[in-house]
Amino acid sequence: MVIDFRQAKKLVAKHGSPILVISEGRVKSNYQTLKKIMGDVTVHYPLKTAGHKGILNILRRLDSHFDVASYGEIQSLLDLGIDATRMLYSNPVRSIPDTVKAYNVGVERFVYDNDASLNILSRYAPESDVMLRVSVSNDHAYYKLSTKFGAQPKDAIRLLKKAKKLGLNPDGIAFNAGSHSHSADDYINAIALSKNIFKNAKKEGIELEALDIGGGFPCRNSDRPLPKSTEDILWDVKESLDEHFPKSSGVELIVEPGRFTVSDAGVLLTRILGKSKRHKVIWYYLDDGAAHDLADVKFSNWDFTFAVGRRGKKIRSVLAGPTCDSFDVITRNQWLPELELGDIIMVRNAGAYTSGLASTYNGFQPAETVYIP
Ligand SMILES: Cc1ncc(COP(=O)(O)O)c(C=O)c1O
Repeated sequence: MVIDFRQAKKLVAKHGSPILVISEGRVKSNYQTLKKIMGDVTVHYPLKTAGHKGILNILRRLDSHFDVASYGEIQSLLDLGIDATRMLYSNPVRSIPDTVKAYNVGVERFVYDNDASLNILSRYAPESDVMLRVSVSNDHAYYKLSTKFGAQPKDAIRLLKKAKKLGLNPDGIAFNAGSHSHSADDYINAIALSKNIFKNAKKEGIELEALDIGGGFPCRNSDRPLPKSTEDILWDVKESLDEHFPKSSGVELIVEPGRFTVSDAGVLLTRILGKSKRHKVIWYYLDDGAAHDLADVKFSNWDFTFAVGRRGKKIRSVLAGPTCDSFDVITRNQWLPELELGDIIMVRNAGAYTSGLASTYNGFQPAETVYIP
């Protein structure tokens, strides 16, 4: 963890709680590790994972590019002075107004996976570069993404040809192997599949120039046991890229690592506001919960891990959020020593998919973000 309890107490004394503590050094070292392993790839950090200004600025200084899903995300990058040419609009579904605005500010590359999206792009973002997202297996991912997006591979050539016919520039293939993938296998199969599409497209006179392998790499220092280290999974992916898309192919390789970049760089500090014993089980009510920074317990069933600053006999405990609503339960089965009002609970690996999902439900504000070196 990027801080210990002594530091946590100091930070809470200074900033209050809840706070999301982000280590700038860890974000940097994650980014650099990825670049070291993957070599010559363009990193497009997805804002959806954690779009705080501070994180975007750290990544901007490292020369990262960005993956956006809406005009709102584009605007937040423009506000920081980040050029639209460093953005990839990767949400395959976008409204006409968002398409027009993105095009007008200079976004040059869009991802699509269906006919309706192509028709909008051809009319409102003419001559743009478009990458076709194909659906690939997400078997090894904790959180699957192919259930919502991705054209069937059998439709790939038709959709690439259609893009060309509509005056767009079909220049690549994109896929997403899910999130927190614990094996390189889905990537390896998807890279081979993409290679095939590149070959078939060439036969149709379409020269594809870019492959976007998406995000999905597991977080480093994961609390969930992985069969291989995160770094070894990346090495396996790299080996497959070298086999099918070697440097000599001239194909631009793109990665969109969200969780990998920020998850273990963040720790959420929350405090106990209330306590009660209900049917022999202790309930702790925290100042952050399932409607706020820990909403991923509901969205993707993510089970966060918690660290406390007391020792003693462990008893079954429920952790719930602060709202006056019974869905706001974070976990029902934590074995913890008895805790007291005001105690800090540290949520490990909380940099990804926390504050971005937080609401202001019941008048509670999401955690403030605090940066440490
Ligand atoms: C298009 C796209 N790229 C990248 C990501 C980031 O995935 P991860 O945080 O698992 O790296 C997502 C996650 O939803 C996504 O939808």
